[in-house]
Amino acid sequence: MPVANLLIRQATVLIDRAFQVSDVLVQDGKIAQTAPEIAIDSDTLIIDATGLTLLPGVIDPQVHFREPGLEYKEDLFTASCACAKGGVTSFLEMPNTNPLTTTQEMLNDKLDRAAQKCLVNYGFFIGATAENLPDLETANPTCGIKIFMGSMHGALLVDQESALERIFSSGRRLIAVHAEDQARIRARREQFAGMTDPAVHSQIQDNQAALNATQLALKLSKKYQRRLHILHLSTGEEAELLRHDKPAWVTAEVTPQHLVLNTSAYETIGTFAQMNPPLRSPQDNEILWNALRDGVIDFIATDHAPHTIAEKAKGYPNTPSGMPGVETSLPIMLTQAKQGKCTVEQVANWMSTAVAKAYKIPNKGIIAPGYDADLVLVDLNTYKPVLREELQTKCGWSPFEGWNLTGWPVVTIVGGQVVFDRGQLNTDVRGKALSFS
Ligand code: DOR
Repeated sequence: MPVANLLIRQATVLIDRAFQVSDVLVQDGKIAQTAPEIAIDSDTLIIDATGLTLLPGVIDPQVHFREPGLEYKEDLFTASCACAKGGVTSFLEMPNTNPLTTTQEMLNDKLDRAAQKCLVNYGFFIGATAENLPDLETANPTCGIKIFMGSMHGALLVDQESALERIFSSGRRLIAVHAEDQARIRARREQFAGMTDPAVHSQIQDNQAALNATQLALKLSKKYQRRLHILHLSTGEEAELLRHDKPAWVTAEVTPQHLVLNTSAYETIGTFAQMNPPLRSPQDNEILWNALRDGVIDFIATDHAPHTIAEKAKGYPNTPSGMPGVETSLPIMLTQAKQGKCTVEQVANWMSTAVAKAYKIPNKGIIAPGYDADLVLVDLNTYKPVLREELQTKCGWSPFEGWNLTGWPVVTIVGGQVVFDRGQLNTDVRGKALSFS
């Protein structure tokens, strides 16, 4: 599809870590110029952005998009539509599909599917098993190795220290861990057997289970000076651990759910609040917020993990863990900013700039000449509720239904192409494979 030149006129733009009213010219998919007023020729598409705020497009570094194999929950097309609506212009997707993404062949298959179907840019993790060490080092392109230390059934579970040590000691690329102690979870599941209150989920997979695994991953990362990323940090204990002991080569993320939801959500939305690692206490919420604001936690990921309403309605413990998130994460965080929890600039950093930096994604996450034109225009003046009937995710529900949010995307731009414009998706747009330098 030919890419038109665009002029985004009079947006409030995040430039050099400050907001200013500016024009932004996009040519050949890249940001060409930012200036108070830019003159253009006639074949440039003009977007009047008066009163709107222009941010770098969100890069969501942890999503589960279910293709191949679980397309009844979500697929790369529907998920990328949800991304476009949510201002997410790039995503990094997890390997627990069917078949698992544990070989170059399966990685290639996902890249081919994404090239055909994805409205936004895409990258994929390679999943670690106890046996695929050679693939972990050679697979390309990938944002990193995903290890499920806990909370996973099947071949992706790597819960033995000896197997973990083999992976940490070989190679150099980024290792991202889902840090929960599987042995502890197994034992506690027995202890709580027969209990059907979903709130029990947070007791079975408790704070200690998360802390044990994060401690082990940190120990191995320090031993081998291995680049480590801790996915969805959920507990105050882990945040405090990292506050006092976080080598320069370690990063951590938190989900919006772990910031704005806690165990009280089981009373209102029951099993729809069930995720791994589980929701924690209001006190954990506050410690995580402090760690994020202080830079102990580096950025935000949604862990978008769609399951059907029927699956979620089965009744605990027969319900799968996970919640969708890509089309609500930006307004959730911008509403928090409006409420004084953080600044809009911090949100842009945590949801784009810092992610591009941590995963070494070139030319993304900043609004400046030469950077890719992956952008989102948001409206910070209007509030609108999350409505089930407007959701693009195939699973068709959100834990935030009814929440009145601001900062909704008005226009989303991927590689200079308008993919979402005031409620309308342009499903002809295709994103590109991300590279990791
Ligand atoms: O709650 C979760 N669901 N956490 C994960 O890490 C996996 C995910 C899924 O794939 O459903």
